[in-house]
Amino acid sequence: MIVVIDFGSQYNQLIARRVRENRVYCQIEPPNIDIETIKRLNPDGIILSGGPSSIYGKNSPKTDPAIFDLGIPVLGICYGMQFMVDALGGTVEKAAKREYGFAELEIKKEGKLFDKIGSSTTCWMSHGDSITNLPQGFSTTAATENTPFAAAENVKRNLYGLQFHPEVEHTPKGKQILRNFLFNVCGCKRNWTMKAFAKESIAQIKEAAGDKKVILGLSGGVDSSVTAVLIHQAIGSHLTCIFVDNGLLRLNEAAKLKIVLKQHLKINIRFVNASRLFLDALKGVTDPEKKRKIIGKIFMDVFDAEAKKIKDADFLAQGTLYPDIIESQSAFGGPTSIIKSHHNVGGLPKKMKLKLIEPLKYLFKDEVRVLGKTLGMPEELVWRQPFPGPGLGIRILGDVTPKRLSVLRKVDDILIQEIKAHGYYKKLWQSFAVLLPLKSVGVMGDKRTYENIIAIRAVTSKDAMTADWARLPHKLLAKISNRIINEVNGVNRVAYDISSKPPSTIEWE
Ligand code: XMP
Repeated sequence: MIVVIDFGSQYNQLIARRVRENRVYCQIEPPNIDIETIKRLNPDGIILSGGPSSIYGKNSPKTDPAIFDLGIPVLGICYGMQFMVDALGGTVEKAAKREYGFAELEIKKEGKLFDKIGSSTTCWMSHGDSITNLPQGFSTTAATENTPFAAAENVKRNLYGLQFHPEVEHTPKGKQILRNFLFNVCGCKRNWTMKAFAKESIAQIKEAAGDKKVILGLSGGVDSSVTAVLIHQAIGSHLTCIFVDNGLLRLNEAAKLKIVLKQHLKINIRFVNASRLFLDALKGVTDPEKKRKIIGKIFMDVFDAEAKKIKDADFLAQGTLYPDIIESQSAFGGPTSIIKSHHNVGGLPKKMKLKLIEPLKYLFKDEVRVLGKTLGMPEELVWRQPFPGPGLGIRILGDVTPKRLSVLRKVDDILIQEIKAHGYYKKLWQSFAVLLPLKSVGVMGDKRTYENIIAIRAVTSKDAMTADWARLPHKLLAKISNRIINEVNGVNRVAYDISSKPPSTIEWE
């Protein structure tokens, strides 16, 4: 395995992904990780990430320089390389000219790292400081016009540095350089597979839970379903899942899920229909944050009440994913800036005094899908698009009433049918409809109408942190619009959302 020390670069997850794509396990750790922990993790190599700080900045992140004496190969990238150089006695100074963007990299010495790269290649630079003097024992291996020390190495100590970013697409041969580090320098084996991960995870859950009971909130989404199956394979009937119907689900969702979950997951599931509670509490509430708070609070109360009925439960399982962990600084302690606070876990564990089990916390979404498949789960569960906890409650702008829910459900159902029929369901991160709190004038069969407006949102994304509106074919959009207006009473206009995240968000509320 490889440990990535997180110096705060926006590309850290990408480094982890690049490593795992090579079937080598990789974990991101904060700079304040102690040497004993690193020794215990026993990595084959360490990557020091880039970061926005200057090495001389007041609060610039540092890691224990003893890391260079462990005999473990280290690759420093950008700030990571500068940290290495500074820590080992070289010099880093403010560059006369900031280097940002593409640069032509001239390879001076092939060595293990630049194997199969050729004599020159394009690389992506993004730095304000530059190395002006290498530490003793290091030699330059590549340079660009503005950066004489674009790459350096100390072969004897297995220390390597790259001033540019090999992990980004803009460095076309970056993947090869990282592969060279993993296999030529660190001697990693390509043995990290989902099967191995599942086996190890099941063993760990068995060990952690022992003969205690585990509770899991099941939403029908990919993450919680995969978590359920994994834990079930570890501890069988000691797992109880709770499914809360909040009345804000899609058309026939609760009933359909009940069938799929019962049929495919032979797991204890308690279904609680709390629709009335939620809808009563939402009456007249239009403020998005208030809606979220009400829905979150009632969910917690209902879940808590149900969980209390399960005797001897010691653990609460959650389908937290790796991006959630990396993004929420409090959970992680690293300097990677908080981009969003994640919505799923608001306070549940603290209140319930249960110990947490989060078996997916080192996986990315697409890896969770592979894991689900590995565990034998059906496509229809593994390939569901994400659906927010507050459900249609935050897709009905303004008042959430049974009547408006019924309109949106029909619209949403048509949309998903068409998206699936045209083969777009898996290609899109999410596709859904939003009911606006406005009406517009239309004409239907010579009659003036004054009805609801629907906005269609379809986005592509890797992890929901950023998203782009999907360029759906006009023919598909036309079909969707046509069917909605013809088939759903109360809608006379459909608009397509062409905003990206940022600056918009995926959901409208
Ligand atoms: P935004 O709207 O912040 O959404 O761009 C990012 C992703 O998170 C989902 N989302 C939620 N998921 N509870 C959830 O479980 C929530 O309260 C919630 N709000 C947004 C959203 O669907 C998108 O995938």
